[in-house]
Amino acid sequence: MRSHCEFWVIVGWVAFVAGKGEWTVQQADKDEGMAKFPWAQLRLPPYLQVAMRVLQLANNENVQLHQLCDLISSDPAFASEVLMVANSVLYSPRYPSSSIMQAIAVLGANTLQGMCITVGVRAYLGRSMNYPAMRDLWRHNLACGVISERVAAAGFLDRDTAYTSGMLHDIGRVALAVIEPKEYSNLLSIHKGSAESILEGEKQLFGWDHCEMGRMLVRDWELPADLEPVVAEHHAPAGDKPAWGMRELVKVSCRMADVLGFPAFHGCERGEFNALVEELPERERGRFCGDRKMLAEEVTHGVHAIEVV
Ligand SMILES: [Fe+2]
Ligand SMILES: [Fe+2]
Repeated sequence: MRSHCEFWVIVGWVAFVAGKGEWTVQQADKDEGMAKFPWAQLRLPPYLQVAMRVLQLANNENVQLHQLCDLISSDPAFASEVLMVANSVLYSPRYPSSSIMQAIAVLGANTLQGMCITVGVRAYLGRSMNYPAMRDLWRHNLACGVISERVAAAGFLDRDTAYTSGMLHDIGRVALAVIEPKEYSNLLSIHKGSAESILEGEKQLFGWDHCEMGRMLVRDWELPADLEPVVAEHHAPAGDKPAWGMRELVKVSCRMADVLGFPAFHGCERGEFNALVEELPERERGRFCGDRKMLAEEVTHGVHAIEVV
């Protein structure tokens, strides 16, 4: 197990103050009463920096489309990957876009934001993807994004926000994977139990579980505050009839991803698909695809469409 000091040096690596374009040494604390440790001046992969800034920009109502276009285009390699996703069979555009501005015009700024997050998270995992357990984790996030969008489309919540929230719900796990790919991959490979039972193993290994890590990243990267309950509480036990919102939507979508063949880790216990559909509010339940086989095919198609890009 790592010492806390050593751990925080590594955590500094993922502590980029997004949107300001610079690295800072800052103090971070887990919770009140927790000892403080210095953050190191280390770097995040540039793709995720751009993706996180896109997320911040897209949540600003006053943002001009050309600003979004300029930001995405500021990294030509990133922009070209985003364009490949935009032109993939997942979105099946009638006419392929040849520029980011064209893709924004055809698909909309919010949809493009989801693509940027997809490309950014994949790049963030980077070489960790050489581990099969990490590829499974990537597919789980992707599947959760696709399912979240489907559930949102069956009700009133925003589809693009749902996709982004699903893609990012396990960002804390992704960070743990980047910090220590071999050890975390090993934990994901050998652990057996419910989805939330792995949190204790993460705490033993890192001092933090992925939900706590996710909460910290949302704050330190200055991501939209609405993401915090999604990333920090998606394994929380169900309370008494919690109000339906993005957190509840992603919670159920995460477990659906497990059931439909995209578990976050191989030994994850999977519930009953029909029981999960029953958890949806009446309106969503009535309009959501309740056919497990058909939905599994749709999600597999969506995941594959991104994977081959
Ligand atoms: Fe999770
Ligand atoms: Fe999950």
